[in-house]
Amino acid sequence: MPKDSNKDYKFGDSFSKRAKDLGYRSRSSFKLKEIQNKDKLLLKGMKVLDLGSSPGGWSQVTKEIIGAAGKIVAVDLKDMQEIKGVVFVKKDIGLIEEEDISFEEKFLPFDVVLSDIAPNISGISDRDHILMINLLEKIIFIIENYLKKEGRVLVKAFQGESLDFITNYMKSRFETVRIRKPRSSRHRSKEYYALGNNLK
Ligand SMILES: C[S@@+](CC[C@H](N)C(=O)[O-])C[C@H]1O[C@@H](n2cnc3c(N)ncnc32)[C@H](O)[C@@H]1O
Repeated sequence: MPKDSNKDYKFGDSFSKRAKDLGYRSRSSFKLKEIQNKDKLLLKGMKVLDLGSSPGGWSQVTKEIIGAAGKIVAVDLKDMQEIKGVVFVKKDIGLIEEEDISFEEKFLPFDVVLSDIAPNISGISDRDHILMINLLEKIIFIIENYLKKEGRVLVKAFQGESLDFITNYMKSRFETVRIRKPRSSRHRSKEYYALGNNLK
């Protein structure tokens, strides 16, 4: 488990180095931590679905916050090393169906759906947005089938078409929608995070 997360770092220390020092598996951990500090997305005891979870940084941070009473199901195409208290499902999210048997009933419905998924970036903007929108359509299917009423979501998208796509969806289905760009997200990266609160 990550240690000493309050340790002081000088400006300029890379987030990847910090993550390694603290026992987190990815610099992405800090993105979720920053959003959590600002928005209090996760609460003790929640049931959380972490999509695109590997290598496991978000699952580690989530576990710290939701504690022993909470539950996490993590899904990724790639393997993920075990994290105590996290149920890992190796699966393409496009293959998650209604009433998926991978999700035992004790997990359902989820309080929060997280997605840090992105396609392999080609650098060709139009193509990347189309790939991202394809993934977002699958994520929306999962939200609609597995998130509880009044549940919350945090979903990554790229500035431009795909961010507009997920934001428009969230505005129609969630009471409040916010857009976040954590400091730990590389400045040149077009990734943003859309946060939806209170599924209608
Ligand atoms: C940026 S990484 C996630 C990092 C993670 N949040 C962490 O903190 O360690 C994105 C992940 O999405 C996964 N992914 C991409 N497309 C996927 C799909 N269709 N189904 C499941 N996982 C997918 C990739 O395998 C990759 O591990």
